[in-house]
Amino acid sequence: MHRSFFIKTYGCQMNSYDSEKINDLLLFNGFRKAEDLEKTDVAILNTCHIREKASEKLYSDLGRLSIFKKNKEKLGKKFSIVVMGCVAQAEGKEIINRNNSVDYVVGPQNIQIIPNLLKKENFEKVHVNFLSEEKFQSLTFSKTNKTASMISIQEGCDKFCSFCVVPYTRGAEFSRTVEDIYAEINHVVQKGTKEVTLLGQNVSSYESTIYEDKEKKIKLANLCNIISKIPRLKRIRYLTSHPNDIDNYLISEHAKNEKMMPFLHLPIQSGSDKILKKMNRKHTKKQYLDLVKKIKLVVPKMAFSSDFIVGYPGETEEDFEQTVSVVNAVKFASSYSFVYSSRPGTPASTQEDVINPEVKKKRLTYLQELLIKHQNNFNNFFLDKEVEVLITDVGKKDNQYVGRTPHLQPVHVYSKKNLIGKILNIKIERLTSFSFHGKILN
Ligand code: SAH
Ligand code: SF4
Ligand code: F3S
Repeated sequence: MHRSFFIKTYGCQMNSYDSEKINDLLLFNGFRKAEDLEKTDVAILNTCHIREKASEKLYSDLGRLSIFKKNKEKLGKKFSIVVMGCVAQAEGKEIINRNNSVDYVVGPQNIQIIPNLLKKENFEKVHVNFLSEEKFQSLTFSKTNKTASMISIQEGCDKFCSFCVVPYTRGAEFSRTVEDIYAEINHVVQKGTKEVTLLGQNVSSYESTIYEDKEKKIKLANLCNIISKIPRLKRIRYLTSHPNDIDNYLISEHAKNEKMMPFLHLPIQSGSDKILKKMNRKHTKKQYLDLVKKIKLVVPKMAFSSDFIVGYPGETEEDFEQTVSVVNAVKFASSYSFVYSSRPGTPASTQEDVINPEVKKKRLTYLQELLIKHQNNFNNFFLDKEVEVLITDVGKKDNQYVGRTPHLQPVHVYSKKNLIGKILNIKIERLTSFSFHGKILN
């Protein structure tokens, strides 16, 4: 019987995409899927390094798994542990030094070799080269049918924000070719996908060429336009953008192309120009607010979300007030916010004027309450209105289905008929915390 595997995934959508790909590759290579980490022959941990808390999760998992491995070995059974993802890239051999039950450490751009490592054994234990091109070329198309699919189009980051590990864990920016992306999207659409989210650490700086015209640069706006020609594809999203890379072509593509969803995740991190400068973000508060204004003018329906870091070294009450003022000006539809976490190897980690944890916590709580207030206001606007919803999943209750609005809000409805993959007009009746409940109109 073939060995079974289980993948546990942390971190962002890029990691989820990689996990799906490894899943497909291992199935293709004859491995079986296990129900959970306790019942598997191969445990794969796809890790995230972005904040200290995220990366420490690896070591608590390894603690448990190494005991498990010893017990299995006593029974004469084999158990392999593979650590992949951004901690693998950042810490490499250190991981094995800290916990020698780990069999392989595989960075995000070497994942294509995992089936071989597991089949042949006696390989090098640590694989952390930057091989974006090879990686994407070796991945297979997904066998699963999904209504909403994530498609990685770009990997890596050249921005080097002072607090961030991504340029080191994912390497330099690499954009996949238009043909590759088109083929993958076409494939998932044939299998039932109605919505794609184009993924990249810096998706708005996507740049590639097409085979027919090597001179022509294809940017994100062109790519969205090209894929929107696939008839059965109904919705296009992309994630994550950097404010400095949003060009007029992309904005006007949103205005012209009804498949482009009116929701933009556009992280600002801080509202203080002093802190933005220290963060090496290369934009000011005014530039960000002007961009939002410009987009709103061309695409009035557009809603925004953002990421925020509070308590970056040197952040004063006045700096924090500037962040608050951005939140009140833009009125984000949703957001993620974090206290600053010092990451080894980043320029920010050497800064001395660190903020007291109590102060960080207090600012975060204040900010999160404010963000939730705006999110509720945004959501309340849709009560009693008719909204187009793409049904993507079954709900937790009998006959319940879950879908997403153009602004990515979850909506629950009941139906005796299977609704997966349908775009329905739904009257929004209730809001419980962050999800809607509604009635089908058509
Ligand atoms: N490429 C994206 C996001 C990358 S990481 C971008 O440019 O926005 C996702 C989010 O994690 C970031 O937007 C940031 O808000 C947060 N983050 C990154 N490094 C962090 C750190 N050292 N401490 C706290 N939050 C951090
Ligand atoms: Fe990190 Fe900045 Fe790159 Fe985003 S743009 S991944 S925050 S370095
Ligand atoms: Fe984490 Fe790596 Fe994504 S550090 S947020 S998994 S790019």
